[in-house]
Amino acid sequence: MIYLDNNATTQIDPQVCEKMSSFLKNRFGNPSSLYPIGREVKESLNEARENIAGLLGAERSEIIFTGSGTESDNFAIRGVMEAFPEKDEFVTSAVEHPAVIETAHYLKKSGKKVTFVPVDQTGLVDLEELEKKVTSRTALVSIMHANNEVGTLQPIDEIVRIAKNKDVLMHTDAVQTFGKIKFDVHKLGVDLLSVSGHKIYGPKGVGALFVKKGTSLAPLIHGGHQEGKLRAGTENTAGIVGFGEAARIAKERLNKDKKRLEGLAEKLKNGIESRISDVKFNGPEKERIPTTLNFSFLKLEAEAVLLALATKGIYVSTGSACSEDSDEVSHVLTAIGLTPEQARSAIRFSLGRFNTEEDIHTVLQELPDIVRNLREISMGSAE
Ligand SMILES: Cc1ncc(COP(=O)(O)O)c(C=O)c1O
Repeated sequence: MIYLDNNATTQIDPQVCEKMSSFLKNRFGNPSSLYPIGREVKESLNEARENIAGLLGAERSEIIFTGSGTESDNFAIRGVMEAFPEKDEFVTSAVEHPAVIETAHYLKKSGKKVTFVPVDQTGLVDLEELEKKVTSRTALVSIMHANNEVGTLQPIDEIVRIAKNKDVLMHTDAVQTFGKIKFDVHKLGVDLLSVSGHKIYGPKGVGALFVKKGTSLAPLIHGGHQEGKLRAGTENTAGIVGFGEAARIAKERLNKDKKRLEGLAEKLKNGIESRISDVKFNGPEKERIPTTLNFSFLKLEAEAVLLALATKGIYVSTGSACSEDSDEVSHVLTAIGLTPEQARSAIRFSLGRFNTEEDIHTVLQELPDIVRNLREISMGSAE
């Protein structure tokens, strides 16, 4: 298997797996219990919190565990809008993950004013437009750190400056950058930031929200006193322990992994561009996470390319995983100016820790033939 869909999810790291299975076998206590087997689990959660905080440059008390990146996004957005009822505006971008876009639609339905700021052809948010849309009535600006479909990295520091000039809080969805590129929440200047376990070789069903000390936030889930009374429900203890271990490993390997994967991605990009005609690279050449490559194989349906690659054991994605099972054209590719035909021919290759030179070599051997054969078939059927 050659797995090139690491933006959708990642294989669990064997060290994470080992840590979780030992924890599951030996630590069943409830972290809210005061006796030793409860306190031990509480300590394990705190160790995980420390690892996640460490990778973000945050303090341990600024990390709240959630059930996913999606929940973290919902929590940040709805939590701030509810905490500031006197402000009724929310500003975001046209290329956010559905976890943000759909939350924005929910806010709109409940009477809030929502603005989706447009992006340019590389996916960068139009800062002039953003500046116009952020007003004293805006409670929150939420712009993603890197886009999951085309990899565009947003200038978060400049966006924070615009928000702060108007005394507005700033959230970023960093699900695709956490553990992949080095950043520090306090240097970025954001008030809230979402991350997810399964994108960094950790387990699924666990995420976290960074909440800067002193930020007002209403809970999304009501009940017990867990997570500083902000997220009720007995914690997903093994998941959190796995997420913490994944963050610890990511921090340790960050520079080494980044350099190696940048090299592999560059090889794949150059190889596709030099061996296949009529391809369009989608997204920016420079300001992006290098492990995300999105290409339109013009005059082809992406699904046909995906399925042909899958028969060779090569797994990629069309658009984003979240829109994979729907007929809708990707909102991201549409927002950066692709025609519906170009968007429908787009394939995303996303590299990860377990990819090798050999993987890239094999893809570059198989892909040109697949594209050529499919184009011949489609030309034949058009005659
Ligand atoms: C940018 C971004 N935000 C949020 C999510 C959702 O994360 P989760 O799968 O943990 O809900 C994803 C997952 O694809 C993502 O890429």
